[in-house]
Amino acid sequence: MFDPPLVAACCAAIIAAVSIPVSVKCRLGVDERDSYEELVEFVETVSSVGVRHFIIHARKAILGLDTVKNRSVPPLRHDWVFRLRERFPQHRFTINGGIATLEAARELLAAGMDGVMIGRRANAEPYMFAGVSSLVDGRGEAPSRREVLHRYLEYALLAQRANWDGKMPEQVARLLLTPLTGLFHGTRVGARWRQVLSETMHDRQRLSTQSLPELVSSCLDGAQVSAAVLDLLPGAPSALPPSALYPSRPA
Ligand SMILES: Cc1cc2nc3c(=O)[nH]c(=O)nc-3n(C[C@H](O)[C@H](O)[C@H](O)COP(=O)(O)O)c2cc1C
Repeated sequence: MFDPPLVAACCAAIIAAVSIPVSVKCRLGVDERDSYEELVEFVETVSSVGVRHFIIHARKAILGLDTVKNRSVPPLRHDWVFRLRERFPQHRFTINGGIATLEAARELLAAGMDGVMIGRRANAEPYMFAGVSSLVDGRGEAPSRREVLHRYLEYALLAQRANWDGKMPEQVARLLLTPLTGLFHGTRVGARWRQVLSETMHDRQRLSTQSLPELVSSCLDGAQVSAAVLDLLPGAPSALPPSALYPSRPA
């Protein structure tokens, strides 16, 4: 963001090379280049080569700061993204930063945003998105965690066969198990599942000899994930009575 013409030149080259829309994700500014006017200039310059969609993490970048910390400070300025939305009605703006629930996303969309990006919560609590189709079109049935696991394993097996980048089998298995870490967040087995999955991801022997469905199945057993938890749907109370949590899991 220090050099908008350079970003525009990069985008122009990308646009010339691909046949899909090119979007830009950026912050509000960087270090001392952090005024609203400079942000407007950035959007003007970059959009002049054909970028029509900006995804904006609504805080500035501080280059001396660790990137993890810079996801929480300095304070968010969602209002600047709304100002851009008004200033450039011909472009699309997706707002990002600190959005933690689908309800918050719904409110931002209702207030005029073209899109909402959710980062850390997607990582920590992926099952939150089971209810997302109702946010988009008010329809669609939310899948249970059992269905999510089933579909994810179908995808993961395809990805595993492709054996990304010639990596070792255990590395591929670990990469494919990682996104499941937060799947049971908000249920009583969330912490235990995270722990058992983490132990499995450190077990090189098992990662290289067992299939992904076998690994997941043994984690479900190890974390004592019950049928009731696997079949919970979004919005259902997660504070289940203990009796609902430990019946044996159907095969
Ligand atoms: C594990 C992780 C990796 C990320 N990697 C990138 C990245 O490669 N490029 C990027 O622009 N932002 C990256 N981000 C930042 C997010 O896209 C997002 O802008 C930031 O987390 C703020 O949104 P949030 O408050 O919803 O988390 C990453 C965030 C996390 C948690």
